[in-house]
Amino acid sequence: MVLGAVAAAKNAAAITGGGRRNLTQSSRALESRIDVLIKEPIATINPDIYGHFVEHLGGVVYDGIWVGENSKIPNTNGIRTALVEAMRRIKPSVIRYPGGCFADSYDWRDGIGERAKRPRRTNFWVDSPESQVRGQNIPQNYDPNHFGTNEFLRFCNLTNGRPYLAANLRGLGAQDFYEWVEYCNSPAGTTTGAEMRAGGSQPSREPFKVEFWGVGNESWGCGGNLTPEEYSAEFRRFTAAVPRYGLPLKFIASGANADDLNWTRGFFAQTREKGAGLFNSIYGWGLHHYAWNVSGGRTTDWFAGKGDAVKFDTEQYYELLREADRMDSLINTHWTVMGEFDRQHHVKLIVDEWGAWYKPGTEIAPPHLLGQQSTMRDALLAGLTLDTFNRHADKVAMANVAQLINCLHSPFLAHEDKFALTPTFHAFEMYAPHQGAQAVRTEFVSPRVAYTRNSKPADFWGLGGSASINGKQLTLTVVNSDLREARETEVAIAGARIAQAAARVLAETDVHAHNTFENPRAVEPRDEQVRVNNGRLVYRFAPASLTRLQITLA
Ligand code: AHR
Repeated sequence: MVLGAVAAAKNAAAITGGGRRNLTQSSRALESRIDVLIKEPIATINPDIYGHFVEHLGGVVYDGIWVGENSKIPNTNGIRTALVEAMRRIKPSVIRYPGGCFADSYDWRDGIGERAKRPRRTNFWVDSPESQVRGQNIPQNYDPNHFGTNEFLRFCNLTNGRPYLAANLRGLGAQDFYEWVEYCNSPAGTTTGAEMRAGGSQPSREPFKVEFWGVGNESWGCGGNLTPEEYSAEFRRFTAAVPRYGLPLKFIASGANADDLNWTRGFFAQTREKGAGLFNSIYGWGLHHYAWNVSGGRTTDWFAGKGDAVKFDTEQYYELLREADRMDSLINTHWTVMGEFDRQHHVKLIVDEWGAWYKPGTEIAPPHLLGQQSTMRDALLAGLTLDTFNRHADKVAMANVAQLINCLHSPFLAHEDKFALTPTFHAFEMYAPHQGAQAVRTEFVSPRVAYTRNSKPADFWGLGGSASINGKQLTLTVVNSDLREARETEVAIAGARIAQAAARVLAETDVHAHNTFENPRAVEPRDEQVRVNNGRLVYRFAPASLTRLQITLA
């Protein structure tokens, strides 16, 4: 089905999650309405919800972040300067490293010391389907370890992001983990680890003070194929006696894949059996959820189940948003199961991998395994996911979009001396004012959008979003998913009067629009004036758009 053929008919009423209500055909005359309930706070939005993820995978580290100190490409200590400058604009808060699946094959000792003496190792992704289609000998399959702990911490320092390191649970032991913590955090001059840190190609005398530590990654799969009970035992062993060095270490356990509630239940039940007090020592439970097209049904063919990043039809557009929108119920269901065992909810949700995942073909350079373009559709997907996290600010303490550059759902693309911002970057920049603000409840009322799934009628919500308040400043972000229709909408703030408002909009006539090195500003947000009449705000949300309204309350 092609985009132009979508029927814009509206569907029967239903109440959906996330404070969304849908109009019937008969109430269409009302158009749409958003109520912001500022007297109903949810929680402070942890800035870490706007986090990122860097894995030694394809073009993320090499060609993406790291260009080397002797490169002609402008760099700061070997790190691509254009990336550093752009990162600062989106306030990256926290950056996860070095994986992903790679983390459980990584020995941190390979990435420290004199760069020229570091070993070259086979990368975890060498045998992946993505690598197989390119042949074994692409350079990214053999990691020179030129970018390691010190380089990553330098990157964090330059971008003002806090580090979140993922420890190897499958391939190394607990002692190796303790020594990585010692290397990063022990005070200058106290340990051999501290001395090692102060030597090498990018020395640091002062400790890095890393607080976030992941213990394994996807331990149900690439991280060791463990059962949740086995993983609970490993997690406890790894975290039982980690040296603190006066820091409030925050351990993050490898949580479930999408809707695998058995993994969550198994881990929490087993952990509780050893003592409910253990939940005090777990900061987060790492949920992963990727969206990919499943039209035609899920298949065992790794690529056939995934659509194309740039060429998609109406069905694939809505289906991908629907897949991403499952995040809302995933958060609710995992949270409920966690609460059955951890009644005080000491453990928060950390969605440390999320985003859209497409089949190969749109990567900007062949060695960029899992590389893909990012269109307006991906910006909308990012917007609706960030809105979901904001609405669950009481449950979600961190989230990390996968991955930072030249990979899945990336805000940035780079190859050699070329660099571009994707529409996903613009979503992150537009949403940045939510960081650290107070999330408040919202109600969205709008017609649902009809489309066809597998030749049968289907529908998706029309308007969705989230709101937060910081003093007299209210930030309201809104996704209009409808490919064809703008939505004339009344925005009402319960219990306050609107003094003035301004809009920033990301919208293109073609939802396939994306930025390239030749045309890096094809998709960019624009500012729009908003008229407020006697405290009344009516705004027209463009089709397939992302809008940020910044509202000053009287
Ligand atoms: O982000 C790509 C991969 O997806 C990660 O390495 C892994 O954790 C997940 O399966």
